[in-house]
Amino acid sequence: MKFNKYIILVIAGLLIFSCKENNGKDLAIKDANTSQQASDIEDKVSELLSKMTLEEKIGQMNQYNGFWDVTGPVPENGDQAKKYEHLRKGYVGSMLNVRGVKDVKAVQKIAVEETRLGIPLIIGFDVIHGYETLSPIPLAESASWDLEAIKKSAEVAAKEASAAGINWTFAPMVDVSRDARWGRVMEGAGEDTYLGSKIAVARVKGFQSDDLSTHYSIAACAKHFAAYGFAEAGRDYNTADVGTSTLNNIIFPPFKAAKDAGVRTFMNSFNELNGIPATGDKYLQRDILKKQWEFDGFVVSDWGSITEMIAHGYAKDGKHAAELAVNAGSDMDMESYLYVEELANLVNEGKVDPKLIDDAARRILRVKFELGLFEDPYKYLDESREKEVIGSQTIHDAVLDMAKKSIVLLKNENKLLPLKKEGQKIALIGDLAADKTSPLGSWRIAAKDETAVSVLEGLNKYTGNTVSYAKGADVSIGKNEFAFEVKINTTDTSGFDKAIQTAKQADVVVMVLGEHGFQSGEGRSRTDLGLPGVQQELLEAIYKVNKNIVLVLNNGRPLAINWADKNIPAIVEAWQLGTQSGNAIAQVLYGDYNPSGKLPMTFPRHVGQVPIYYNYKNTGRPTLPAKDIVFWSHYQDVANTPLYPFGYGLSYTTFDYANLKVSNTYGKDKKVTISVDVTNTGDVKGKEVVQLYVKDNFASITRPVRELKGFELLELKPNETKTVQLTLTEAELGFFDNQGQYLVEEGDFEVFVGGDSYADLTSKFKL
Ligand code: NOJ
Repeated sequence: MKFNKYIILVIAGLLIFSCKENNGKDLAIKDANTSQQASDIEDKVSELLSKMTLEEKIGQMNQYNGFWDVTGPVPENGDQAKKYEHLRKGYVGSMLNVRGVKDVKAVQKIAVEETRLGIPLIIGFDVIHGYETLSPIPLAESASWDLEAIKKSAEVAAKEASAAGINWTFAPMVDVSRDARWGRVMEGAGEDTYLGSKIAVARVKGFQSDDLSTHYSIAACAKHFAAYGFAEAGRDYNTADVGTSTLNNIIFPPFKAAKDAGVRTFMNSFNELNGIPATGDKYLQRDILKKQWEFDGFVVSDWGSITEMIAHGYAKDGKHAAELAVNAGSDMDMESYLYVEELANLVNEGKVDPKLIDDAARRILRVKFELGLFEDPYKYLDESREKEVIGSQTIHDAVLDMAKKSIVLLKNENKLLPLKKEGQKIALIGDLAADKTSPLGSWRIAAKDETAVSVLEGLNKYTGNTVSYAKGADVSIGKNEFAFEVKINTTDTSGFDKAIQTAKQADVVVMVLGEHGFQSGEGRSRTDLGLPGVQQELLEAIYKVNKNIVLVLNNGRPLAINWADKNIPAIVEAWQLGTQSGNAIAQVLYGDYNPSGKLPMTFPRHVGQVPIYYNYKNTGRPTLPAKDIVFWSHYQDVANTPLYPFGYGLSYTTFDYANLKVSNTYGKDKKVTISVDVTNTGDVKGKEVVQLYVKDNFASITRPVRELKGFELLELKPNETKTVQLTLTEAELGFFDNQGQYLVEEGDFEVFVGGDSYADLTSKFKL
């Protein structure tokens, strides 16, 4: 018996060994193939470049927005006619916002079949959280802390978008932001650099897959380089004034992580940074990105951002703007029309080195080759695939899964949730509860209105209870003068009475309140972080007649909901969850899915605390020295602490943390290992994000009070305990100094482990 076992073990060992050997060989072969492919591509690009005129090279650097009805009559005059003529001459390298196989085929055919060299277009689109079938907004997805799920979500989005002819997305947005007033926080991963970097990698890998040349993967774009998320006062497009330490330690790392993950494009940004518009910033684009980080993909400008350098007061006219942008390293002009108009003259006048044009065109052509567009420019353009993939059940299942994982339980007093499944009278209140468009959120150009599952529809799938719906009050009352911009109802409370009557008769009231999907996103900054319009009033009116309220929040940014937190027993953060929103919310409310999301951004008590974030610096006066002393860093009227901290989120079960151990073996194997036992102490299965924070007590540059440096998503059955091991390496323990040098300094460190950024299980180690 023993002998047999031994033989089996030896055979198994040999098999594993030979697999490993083979695997090693396979990997070596794969590497060799990849570098062979890369050098083949370089040869092909060089050959093509040698045939191109200056104007054709510049053409590759020109990107136009979709124009005229591409499958209709050809435009004969005006701007449209000019763009069309440019396309036919090979003076357009890329188009954005042309979508659907029929339309993309029409423009691609012109590029491939009518131009002199037949260079295919790269087709860009904002696939931010899905194409037509939408997953949760990126901020919501980030609340899952589930990197596999986030990667899968990007993969699914790429699959649907590529079936519609798209081969390049302007995502992920990797801008760290600490200011909830900024509408675009919905589009990013929140306030933290470490989490943001991990999510940036997951998204890039999801969009691009391991092989960019497949018909279901698309090129990704890390944007907006750089500091767009630090717009002063959270007002979109505003000035960013950021010191070196924040730039190097907070803003850059997610971009660097995206670059290291192989992202093929970067987008620069609208804002100026320390006096220089990012689009014209050589330091950012050439020195850091292309030289220091060795990025060999291309940089696209943001929409019209080259021409906007005139308004910034940095360029004297369009020609000057083109000169500044190209010299700074912006390779492609999105909708400023300036490269196509001005670059040839600038080269001929000696103001722009032709080598820079070659370099930019090379970068763009390289990505087109990698996408396989030269082998088959129509590879993304299969009508039967388009029909089969877009809106397929598999995609709906995937976005539903992501939506459930994105929900954060903020409060659950007396176990009001999950709801009982039988015999309950439920009052469902709120305009957003029946809304089938708002849950799609911002950035949903290809999605159709009214295609989200509403909360009302989701709850009605559970037939054991009766659901009575009353709107209470409108959130939005149509659109204002700008397309998509919602006008908020600030006066009409005529529906309150009916809602109050409905609530009076109910066992439980579910109220769906918050922001309309178009109150966040680009250009949608807010100064007030409360519930918009008359919703706070409605909440208080209902509370007077029935205190058994479950508040379901819909929003694209952190909200300041102090009153609700004090008075409402159960609060569920449901963001804008996309197409399957109502189903995800219903499954969480009924306990068919146990929520495990954790906030990727701090929720303030008051908008006046913003920017508020967990990894702040201590200051020289961090705490109240004595009762009668005023002079310490605080507000007179609101505490310094947040309403809900970064990393926070509850579950229908509870978790206990114990046995924190820190092995300080740093020095030899250059890592510190932290282990902790986590036990599910409740009575249902649940997931917990175990978070590790580190504090460097003393350094040559002041360090934050704590910083996230590791996490693990864990599933535990009731009473089950698992030991989690996390390691800290140099990459997690150092920081950039003000000269951009990465330093790891000796000294005392503290670690904190737990379920949010206030984790208090703590230990120490020395480096
Ligand atoms: C402007 C936005 O800032 C950018 O993120 C987006 O990708 C482009 N418009 C294209 O729509």
